[in-house]
Amino acid sequence: MKLRMDYNNMMDSRIGAEGISQKDFDAWKPAIERATKTMTEKRPAMTWRELPYNQKEIVADITAYAHEMKNEIDAFVVLGIGGSALGPMAVQQALNHPFYNELPREKRGGFPKLYVVDNVDPERLVYLFETVDPTRCLFNVISKSGSTSETMSQFMIIKALLEEKLGKEKARQHIVCTTDTAKGNLITIAKEENYKYFIIPDGVGGRFSQLCPVGLLPAAFCGIDIAGLLAGAAQMDALCKTDDITKNPAYMFAALHIIALEKGKNITVVMPYADSLKFISDWFAQLWGESLGKHFSLEGKVVNVGQTPVKALGVTDQHSQVQLYTEGPFDKIIVLIGVDTYRETLTIPKLYGDMPSLGFLGGVTHNDLIQTEQAATEYALTKASRMNMTLTLPAVTPQTLGQLLYLFEVATAFAGYLLNIDPFDQPGVEEGKNATYALFGRPGYEAKKAEMDAAPAKDGKYIV
Ligand code: PA5
Repeated sequence: MKLRMDYNNMMDSRIGAEGISQKDFDAWKPAIERATKTMTEKRPAMTWRELPYNQKEIVADITAYAHEMKNEIDAFVVLGIGGSALGPMAVQQALNHPFYNELPREKRGGFPKLYVVDNVDPERLVYLFETVDPTRCLFNVISKSGSTSETMSQFMIIKALLEEKLGKEKARQHIVCTTDTAKGNLITIAKEENYKYFIIPDGVGGRFSQLCPVGLLPAAFCGIDIAGLLAGAAQMDALCKTDDITKNPAYMFAALHIIALEKGKNITVVMPYADSLKFISDWFAQLWGESLGKHFSLEGKVVNVGQTPVKALGVTDQHSQVQLYTEGPFDKIIVLIGVDTYRETLTIPKLYGDMPSLGFLGGVTHNDLIQTEQAATEYALTKASRMNMTLTLPAVTPQTLGQLLYLFEVATAFAGYLLNIDPFDQPGVEEGKNATYALFGRPGYEAKKAEMDAAPAKDGKYIV
């Protein structure tokens, strides 16, 4: 099963002057060639590209661990944020029952419930512990840096709670860490306190980590075929290896977006027509936003580039956002994600045949309805000369999902090099982290605190 990408509606031949022309491609040819060369040169450093191939033993270890532990616990709880949380959520939503946690255990294949706690809103953990017994949970602390305040604070709360309830030795069995091989506190703690741990390989950054233990461990604990996910990624990698952009869906996706950006399309809306793919938009939003939104070019020149990712869901957002997308400013690309075959078929009964506005629905399936509405939205966008493109999954399976994730990852890296920025850093995130440390008086952040204190005070007249 192979994912398809149709970008006809990005082109001037379909949407006129708003579209991309052959002339645009010609103008971008040197940049595309440069980015292609960079991708080849930097491939050895992009170790996330090898994840489909080099994890046989890890997959076996994760699978065995999930089977050994699954009956011991009621819930698997991810403690992580950003790249350490969005992937696990997206894959679970895509491949498991939408009401997975509400199903009786036997309908979950005997696997535990899954919760992802990716915020430090105090209500989140308190209410979680009103829902599940922490002593019946396995907590997966995921942090590449091993020092993210949000995740590590959750870990500290849970460690103390478990030790109080179970004692040190038993508490230990309820914590598993996923972190860097050497950097940060988490690996030190895991080793010293004897927690089971999995490694995030060097060169695999947070938002590119879904296909390593960051994503594979939670997925395996929900009964997902993780080898299938990796097989799908390998299938996409076979296409992404080619330098011929017309045959490389990831390079083409990136090039279309960056050429469009130059033509004023500052926003890309990802709109799956499947509830199962809803959180893929969240995952993509971080990947695209954090990777491409940059102040400096690779040569240190101020560039302030990026393209704002927006999350939407078909058909739901047809009744919320599509008015804006078809008639508002010409500043967006709409990426529709369709599915050929849904996991279920639902037929509308033949009722109200005498009422034309309802009668036509009788005998039609919801499958037809959602696909027809997708086609109709595509038509409306195209008629209004709005750039749009469609990715289609034959069905949502581990293999096709692996293809989609890998496509987006390679596209993001390629888009970064087309923009001549570093797609793998996130200095803008660091500023906020450092300011938090300074406000808490963390040693070493005195200069930052002084800088913050010296900022102009707020004026009461602007507060109502
Ligand atoms: O993509 C990234 O690097 C970030 O979004 C991180 O995933 C996020 O900040 C969490 O970092 P860490 O995994 O180090 O706790």
